[in-house]
Amino acid sequence: MTSSSPKALAGRRVLLIVGGGIAAYKALDLIRRLRERGAQVRPLLTESAQEFVTPLAAAALAGERTHTDLFDRESEADIGHIKLARDADAIVVAPATANLMARMATGHAPDLASTVLLATTLPILIAPAMNVRMWLHPATQRNLATLKTDGVAVVGPNEGAMAEAEFGPGRLAEPHEIADALEALLAQRSGGQVLGFLAGRETLKKPLAGRHVLVTSGPTHEPIDPVRYLANRSSGRQGHAVAAAAAAAGARVTLVSGPVAIPDPAGVTVVRVESAREMLAAVEAALPADLAIFAAAVGDWRPAETRAGKIKKDGSTPPPLQLVENPDLLATIAGRGEGRPPLVVGFAAETDDVIANAQRKIARKGCDLIVANDVSAAGGVMGGLENTVHLVARDGSVETWPKLAKEEVGRRLVARFAERLAATSR
Ligand SMILES: Cc1cc2nc3c(=O)[nH]c(=O)nc-3n(C[C@H](O)[C@H](O)[C@H](O)COP(=O)(O)O)c2cc1C
Repeated sequence: MTSSSPKALAGRRVLLIVGGGIAAYKALDLIRRLRERGAQVRPLLTESAQEFVTPLAAAALAGERTHTDLFDRESEADIGHIKLARDADAIVVAPATANLMARMATGHAPDLASTVLLATTLPILIAPAMNVRMWLHPATQRNLATLKTDGVAVVGPNEGAMAEAEFGPGRLAEPHEIADALEALLAQRSGGQVLGFLAGRETLKKPLAGRHVLVTSGPTHEPIDPVRYLANRSSGRQGHAVAAAAAAAGARVTLVSGPVAIPDPAGVTVVRVESAREMLAAVEAALPADLAIFAAAVGDWRPAETRAGKIKKDGSTPPPLQLVENPDLLATIAGRGEGRPPLVVGFAAETDDVIANAQRKIARKGCDLIVANDVSAAGGVMGGLENTVHLVARDGSVETWPKLAKEEVGRRLVARFAERLAATSR
């Protein structure tokens, strides 16, 4: 999340398209938040959105009339759909329904909202919100990947409890998060009106275009017998967020993932493994790469032997668990002569002396950068949604960020890696 000054959107004109989802009521709060930051908001409601909120409520909060119909003669004569598509600095779609995302991704334009979205060259920010199963459906994920490729910015959805006692990603991002994302988008597209969607495709430099990025993520499972294993608390969220950010930055991404309970990032090739040895084999098979990021929490040890049958509890002393060391993926790949990726990044989960330990780890492993991950209670417990990281470089430089959502950490890391990679290959 970016921090915002109170009037950071002063003078900005925003066309707010509200889709027909249960979260449409939050769009009313979003109008207030955007206006508090100085934006002028012009609301546009889909027909379905009007089942949830009224054009009158939106107009009253925006202080502007609400647009609803494509074939409204009066409004077409006044501000037609093409003018709506041009007469703003950005378009925000909140909530973006699965249906509206599908219309946008396919260029299907049967109503005012989708026609405006097809006719515009303005920067577009969508805030999807829907049932978790709709969100995770391959069709929605395909549409999302298409929209990202087209240069559409996305905020959320957030994770949490949803209607019908379900839990998962699908909740509309909070209004302040949407406003923050809009500020970031407008800052990035320097003015919006000239750049944006179509023009943006040529002018927005995808910093990792043409690069192959290899990311490891998640825990490993080291089998004891057919039913038991040694594991750790890694959720894979940070590694997956880095992979998603690298794909959004234009890279071809191979994600080698241990067992996780989170969805695959869109637009990424995922190789699923269980143990450290399988992970190393998958990493070696995926090389060559321009950038290798070792975010997985690879088990340091594995049982010396894996029993073929389940170990029986026979009432006598518990069986001894003899451990042997696992291969060190980071040191192995960073220490390669031929075929070493030009940039090798490790992650270090630490609870004490985070930066000093990271510096020692760089020297020991031979990598270029370490993302030191504060997994103490204050930093953001392992497996959580947020992370406090320090980016430590071989030359001793350290960059520290406040506690951030793992998605934002992923985007910032990828931006830094892209800069380093560009510098090394210059
Ligand atoms: C009570 C109710 C709640 C709904 N909530 C959502 C939602 O949160 N997200 C979504 O994508 N669709 C939701 N839908 C389905 C959309 O309303 C439907 O797909 C509609 O065609 C969307 O139209 P629009 O994209 O033009 O706004 C809901 C439908 C109903 C009846």
